[in-house]
Amino acid sequence: MTAPAGERLYLVTGASSGIGKGIALRLCGLGARVVAIGRDADRLGELAQECGCPERIHPEIRDLAADIELLPQYVKGLKEKYGKFHGMVSCAGISEIRPLQILKYENGKRIFDINYFAPLMLAKGLLDRRHNVGRGTSLVFIASIEAHLADKGMSFYAGSKAALIASVRSISREVAASGVRVNAISPGDILTPMTAAVEGMRNDRSHLYPLGFGTVDDVAALAVFLLSDEAKWITGQNYILDGGHL
Ligand SMILES: NC(=O)c1ccc[n+]([C@@H]2O[C@H](COP(=O)([O-])OP(=O)(O)OC[C@H]3O[C@@H](n4cnc5c(N)ncnc54)[C@H](OP(=O)(O)O)[C@@H]3O)[C@@H](O)[C@H]2O)c1
Repeated sequence: MTAPAGERLYLVTGASSGIGKGIALRLCGLGARVVAIGRDADRLGELAQECGCPERIHPEIRDLAADIELLPQYVKGLKEKYGKFHGMVSCAGISEIRPLQILKYENGKRIFDINYFAPLMLAKGLLDRRHNVGRGTSLVFIASIEAHLADKGMSFYAGSKAALIASVRSISREVAASGVRVNAISPGDILTPMTAAVEGMRNDRSHLYPLGFGTVDDVAALAVFLLSDEAKWITGQNYILDGGHL
């Protein structure tokens, strides 16, 4: 697999934790610069220290669920500050188990705001041709196996990720003529702070995974491949990455 060339610039959301952090570290290790977005300043600071090349990590503290309408403007500002983007990996997201009896519109809106609307509005900003490098630009959206499985109690979360996958396909068709690629990854259970918070989840579900649970590195490897020129004929796809679960 060819790594993205050094000095490329990527936007990574959710870079303060879990999958996003792993992807930011891998990109930085390959010589790329990363605009790393999260809400937690301390953990973004730790990312910059951990990567061993803090000058290539540009931490940006932002609640992506606030002022969603303004996210394209926000990306424009980032371009003016750091340069044109070679791509984005959208990882920021939340999950919640909420059975139908206690489902409320406000819970769904909170999940859709960060899992669906924010990634799309960021994409709108980044896909403005003034803000990316044009041909070779690649966007990757972290969806979820839940978009396919739709376990009980996951209706809002599964819906938000299924909507994301459908929009990835639509957007990929809009931008293909410019040589820009857009794909999704749907991971199964990956050990991160998000899944660690679900008590008992790991023991209860381990038998579902013939190859065991996934790691952040498993997702980062595929994301970096999809960003690279090695994937130049791949767009509009959704990759299920689940250790043989489905
Ligand atoms: N872990 C899994 O098993 C798994 C499986 C399938 C799909 N996924 C998806 O993978 C993505 C990453 O999950 P993860 O397991 O790495 O979760 P995580 O460790 O909980 O990290 C979530 C990240 O999202 C950021 N975030 C959440 N709300 C935000 C907001 N309003 N504004 C800005 N940033 C926000 C967090 O930033 P702060 O902490 O700085 O607030 C954090 O960096 C999610 O989209 C998730 O749905 C995860």
